[in-house]
Amino acid sequence: MRRVIFLFVFTLFFQSAILIRDSYKAAVLEHSPKDARNVHINVVTNLRLYLEYLEQAAFQDVEIIVFPEDGLTGSKVPASDLPHTSTEVPDPMDRVTPCLDRNGSYASFLVELSCASKRHQIYAVVNLIESARSKVDSYTVYHKTNIVLDRSGTIIARYRKINLHNEENYVAGLNTVSTFSTDFGVTFGTFASYDILHKNPAFDVLNNENVTDIVYPSAWYGELPFYAANSIQHGFAKSQSVNILAAGLNDPVTGNGGSGIYLADGRLLSTYVSGEKASKLIINNVPKLKLRYDVSNICQGSSTFPIQPMNVEVPDIKLFRTLTTDLSNYTLESIDLSTNQDVSKIICNKNEDFCCSFNITSNRYSPIWPNYFYKLVLYDGVSKVSSDKSIGLRNCALVACANDTDESCGERNNIPPTGINFIDISISATFTKPDLNLIPITTTYDLIPSTQYVFCQKAKSHKVDVTMHTTQEHDALLTFGILGRVFSYDDKPQGVYNSAVVYNLHLFTIISFCFAHFFY
Ligand SMILES: *[C@@H]1O[C@H](CO)[C@@H](O)[C@H](O)[C@H]1NC(C)=O
Ligand SMILES: *[C@@H]1O[C@H](CO)[C@@H](O)[C@H](O)[C@H]1NC(C)=O
Ligand SMILES: *[C@@H]1O[C@H](CO)[C@@H](O)[C@H](O)[C@H]1NC(C)=O
Ligand SMILES: *[C@@H]1O[C@H](CO)[C@@H](O)[C@H](O)[C@H]1NC(C)=O
Ligand SMILES: *[C@@H]1O[C@H](CO)[C@@H](O)[C@H](O)[C@H]1NC(C)=O
Repeated sequence: MRRVIFLFVFTLFFQSAILIRDSYKAAVLEHSPKDARNVHINVVTNLRLYLEYLEQAAFQDVEIIVFPEDGLTGSKVPASDLPHTSTEVPDPMDRVTPCLDRNGSYASFLVELSCASKRHQIYAVVNLIESARSKVDSYTVYHKTNIVLDRSGTIIARYRKINLHNEENYVAGLNTVSTFSTDFGVTFGTFASYDILHKNPAFDVLNNENVTDIVYPSAWYGELPFYAANSIQHGFAKSQSVNILAAGLNDPVTGNGGSGIYLADGRLLSTYVSGEKASKLIINNVPKLKLRYDVSNICQGSSTFPIQPMNVEVPDIKLFRTLTTDLSNYTLESIDLSTNQDVSKIICNKNEDFCCSFNITSNRYSPIWPNYFYKLVLYDGVSKVSSDKSIGLRNCALVACANDTDESCGERNNIPPTGINFIDISISATFTKPDLNLIPITTTYDLIPSTQYVFCQKAKSHKVDVTMHTTQEHDALLTFGILGRVFSYDDKPQGVYNSAVVYNLHLFTIISFCFAHFFY
């Protein structure tokens, strides 16, 4: 008996020793900024809160802390306030420690952050407004910039946001990716918010094989069915096989919020989104990845994952306001879930070089509900995502709709979907392979992703086969599908590229479909 206990204790000790060595401790802050009239006072107040969170994290032996986009200033900074809410940022090559600067070159908030980093010996990732002198005409321009301070308060990375989102007062960064290495042996890439949907930098930074983790300050407007913040964060991590530390700005009345720590294999250490204004410091041990898997031929996710993710918090989530994407150019196909029959359908674009096939088994457990409708959607086209940006998409998904109209798909009201659960959902899709990347998107009524599914990609010469299937029952589901980013369509004219055709799967169509699509 004693030997058994000894062995058990020894094993525990040994395992935790491995855990310590094989992981690092990270914090992300979901921050609800003080957002009064006077932006200058806001910076002072938010800075004080940042320094408190940084200290709290350091006391818990956190090695790197990530602050959200716009967290120092709030998102709306009038142009006239930019000069006194911004700072110059030195080139990381110059290894400048603003805390030691005697020249007064940097705004006091940057100096204080640098000193705090140094004092607590912690890496800090901060998004701020950078003022820079334009090389061309020596005017001052402003960038939205992520900076990284190392344990001595030195600036080791500077990333100027490339994909601005209705941020007219700022100048986009040049097309360069930003990475940095740490003394705990992890190399990070960094970008911000809507960058995550863009080849440059989100996918390009992964061309550096040393990058295994991403630090991601964000200020994200949640939009259904495809763009809930936490769903994108999780889907990106899982499909690209990269750990993500996501820190979101919190402002739920504008649909802003969502933070978490997501692992490359699809596990979720923490995810947080709040329906009321709130700040939250999330701390986890993050397993180190030796290397990123090649995602072009891999299945991510497993039926052996714990059913409940480790740390999910969604306070007052009913109050969180989500926007709804205009799906009027999508092909939507109603499905009848009233009789508990299995649904089998294939939807293809007109050229038939993009098809999604769905098999769905559901259980209607209430005679009066369900209170939401569900539709299958396919889109092959270009959509506007901001005043001056359009992105190419090839999406397919099962989505919840508030009623049986197409316009209500992606709406979310104050009652969760009730009366139906999905026993099994399988989606398979074939994408021709110009320049694209595929992100699984799953969203429940709580605006968090599901981890109970497997996502597989199999690249062939000219196409990618994707399958996505559940490993558990799902209820209160809003979205289950694939967001296909077709980079080669970016900034082309908006609209449908290939209108779609729906096939009901009767035996004949299955056979002819298979001959037509799978066997050549
Ligand atoms: C301060 O200015 C001097 C002279 O311009 C320069 O050599 C030095 O690097 C500056 N120090 C910092 C910390 O920027
Ligand atoms: C990756 O790390 C190795 C070893 O430190 C280094 O030699 C190589 O240049 C790095 N690759 C890139 C793309 O930075
Ligand atoms: C369906 O939902 C939409 C959006 O919530 C609403 O505007 C519309 O009136 C509803 N239509 C019906 C027929 O209930
Ligand atoms: C759906 O079911 C049909 C018939 O059993 C099968 O041929 C097809 O591969 C299934 N598709 C998916 C996406 O699971
Ligand atoms: C739908 O497509 C048309 C062109 O076919 C385009 O003008 C319109 O802006 C598109 N609407 C949306 C919401 O994407």
